[in-house]
Amino acid sequence: GLKIATIGGGSSYTPELIEGFINYHSELPVREIWLVDIEEGKEKLEIVGNLAKRMVQKAGVPIEIHLTLDRREALKSADFVTTQFRVGLLAARELDERIPLKHGVLGQETNGPGGLFKALRTIPVILEICREMEEFCPNAWLINFTNPAGMVTEAVLRYSNIDKVVGLCNVPIGMEMGVAKLLEVDHKRIRIDFAGLNHMVYGLDVFVDGVSVKDQVISLITDPDKSITMQNIHAIGWEPEFLRALDVFPCPYHNYYYKAGDMLEKELKNFKAGGTRAEIVKKLEAELFELYKNPNLAVKPPQLEKRGGAYYSDAAVRLIHSMYTDKQDIQTVNTMNKGAIASIPFDSAVEVSCIITKNGPKPIAMGDLPIQVRGLVIQMKSFERVAIDAAISGDYGTALLAMTINPLVPSDRIAKVILDEMLESHKKYLPQF
Ligand code: NAD
Ligand code: G6P
Ligand code: MN
Ligand code: MN
Repeated sequence: GLKIATIGGGSSYTPELIEGFINYHSELPVREIWLVDIEEGKEKLEIVGNLAKRMVQKAGVPIEIHLTLDRREALKSADFVTTQFRVGLLAARELDERIPLKHGVLGQETNGPGGLFKALRTIPVILEICREMEEFCPNAWLINFTNPAGMVTEAVLRYSNIDKVVGLCNVPIGMEMGVAKLLEVDHKRIRIDFAGLNHMVYGLDVFVDGVSVKDQVISLITDPDKSITMQNIHAIGWEPEFLRALDVFPCPYHNYYYKAGDMLEKELKNFKAGGTRAEIVKKLEAELFELYKNPNLAVKPPQLEKRGGAYYSDAAVRLIHSMYTDKQDIQTVNTMNKGAIASIPFDSAVEVSCIITKNGPKPIAMGDLPIQVRGLVIQMKSFERVAIDAAISGDYGTALLAMTINPLVPSDRIAKVILDEMLESHKKYLPQF
């Protein structure tokens, strides 16, 4: 049987993952799942871990659930290590979203100034985990869900000795599910050629049973009621002529770039009305943990679907299943580019359709991105690479450079104001600065 170690086990998403392992159990013989957390997450780990135990018991599958604060013990001889942790918890996310907003900039906790700081806090921790993996489970695969997933994956690829890493996001699977719903067909008949970066990915083509329906999908989603989005992004709707001319299927995060002013205005309104997404998530999380405490609950509650990470378990367990069985099906993950997308560095992480094998994802060559989207993707990759360099070096100028070249930040002066305030507020989690 397989041993899984899940870092950040106290996450409210854990029941998703457990449900996935239960559903796949006949083909994916998981024997042990070790949920790991830290002192601050102890109570969450206890509550969600006990629910996990009730879930496997009710399902009648022979999976042992272990709860621990000892990461090394959890990693020992693990076959797959999955990560879903948040350095600094939601309090840090609140700062990531609020500080930039005070200065008229969208924080955006994965792509904007917030994403930069989430990377600065997270990269040192993931590299520490990699060093422990070398010692305790050198053959394991690291499946990283921790955001910013693209930058975290690239940091592992370029700055650790762990090569067996895959970054995972639910946006591609969410877009496929969204198209299936829109066209009223089973999601298994939908395939999208994905290329780009995490939260900056495009569907270059969309197929039903191998026949392109891209134009039809693009026309349909110009209707705001039919736009495909995630729970954490309030889509406003696209200008139909713009989207048809763009000629590729954008992801929900593109709202922040192609509708920057509108999204900022909306966020400021939300903020005045009650707070940023972090505050909404705090309430959702409190509600979820109240439910999880109920000793009669032994399944994943539907309320979890209000979180942005819906379909996470499908994505994660489907990936592990295909790697374990050498299925060689196509899934979209974050992996080393290796030339699959021209004009992105060879050793950078990209989010791209891949063939999933026992030896990992093999990216499918997508060639050059269409000229109308190429520049933005390259710009974001420059931002990501500079941000990673800042996370490693702790160099102030490099961090200021990353903040300034982020497309959501209007000037070096505002970048510096935001940077200084964020460095101060997050000091506890930034030992490298
Ligand atoms: P959360 O705030 O509930 O944190 C999860 C757990 O991580 C907590 O129990 C916390 O105590 C623990 N933790 C913090 N620092 C840790 C450390 N150093 N080692 C081990 N555990 C630690 O977070 P969440 O909302 O459940 O999200 C978890 C992560 O997953 C975040 O990074 C989030 O951005 C990411 N996420 C990714 C996607 C995706 O598409 N890839 C989707 C949703 C969420
Ligand atoms: C989206 C993204 C995640 C993101 C999350 C936010 O689906 O893919 O990477 O972090 O949802 O969800 P939340 O409920 O925490 O706002
Ligand atoms: Mn390496
Ligand atoms: Mn994501």
